[in-house]
Amino acid sequence: MNPYEQDRLLDTYLLFHYGSRGEILAGSALEAAGAAFADEFFRFPVATVAEMFDPAGAPFERALDIGCAVGRSAFELSKQTREVIGIDFSRAFIGAAQRLARGEILRYRRCSEAHLGDDELAASAPADSQPDRVAFETGDAMDLRPDLGVFDLVHAANLLCRLPEPRRFLNRLPALVKPGGQLVFATPATWLDEFTPPENQPGGLTLDFLRETLDASFALRRVTELPFLIREHARKFQVSTSQASVWVRR
Ligand SMILES: C[S@@+](CC[C@H](N)C(=O)[O-])C[C@H]1O[C@@H](n2cnc3c(N)ncnc32)[C@H](O)[C@@H]1O
Repeated sequence: MNPYEQDRLLDTYLLFHYGSRGEILAGSALEAAGAAFADEFFRFPVATVAEMFDPAGAPFERALDIGCAVGRSAFELSKQTREVIGIDFSRAFIGAAQRLARGEILRYRRCSEAHLGDDELAASAPADSQPDRVAFETGDAMDLRPDLGVFDLVHAANLLCRLPEPRRFLNRLPALVKPGGQLVFATPATWLDEFTPPENQPGGLTLDFLRETLDASFALRRVTELPFLIREHARKFQVSTSQASVWVRR
């Protein structure tokens, strides 16, 4: 990927993870029509943690966020977990997440038109999070390092349908989650041949595919839809919902 594209994607994800509703909609035609979008469209990386994990057992010892991007969900996990590891394939995303964990304020650009990065915004780790508990590293979800250990919570949001071999990732999960531990998947199920060859995509519904693959080791607890809005520029937004499912290790 060329560096310009890389920077643009980094800016897009910093806004998605750390921007407020006002910052995401500012200067766009959607700003006037913004009332059509409930607040939950603007808190996806928070919602996959806060609304999905059962807080009854908190505080937890260890949590893993796979495909963490620029880290917002990992910081959310740190509020109720003593140690959090965030892993992503992108060096640019992990570099940004590491700087946020060190307490840095990151300046990034928001576009009015696709070729213009004309407004500067700032991202920082949430004030009520515990950045010192979070470690970010690059890694491949299909080939995670063998010495990660086991976790009380594993979180993988909008990752599954970006993997060339999702089964390789799913097959590792039983070894990563403690008995009684929780696993949260969120996926918009946007399977594309450019990411996942057709023979590796689910033959039917993604939830059925997850059930078939995980059933021996995990019990499905609940399923919900979590919406999100990603701003590319002032006239282009991705509006999606992700099917979030919570599983408990048998
Ligand atoms: C659609 S984004 C979702 C990011 C974040 N979890 C969220 O919900 O906003 C997919 C993320 O998965 C990462 N990713 C893609 N392939 C990966 C792989 N094989 N291993 C780890 N991360 C991967 C990308 O770099 C990107 O950060």
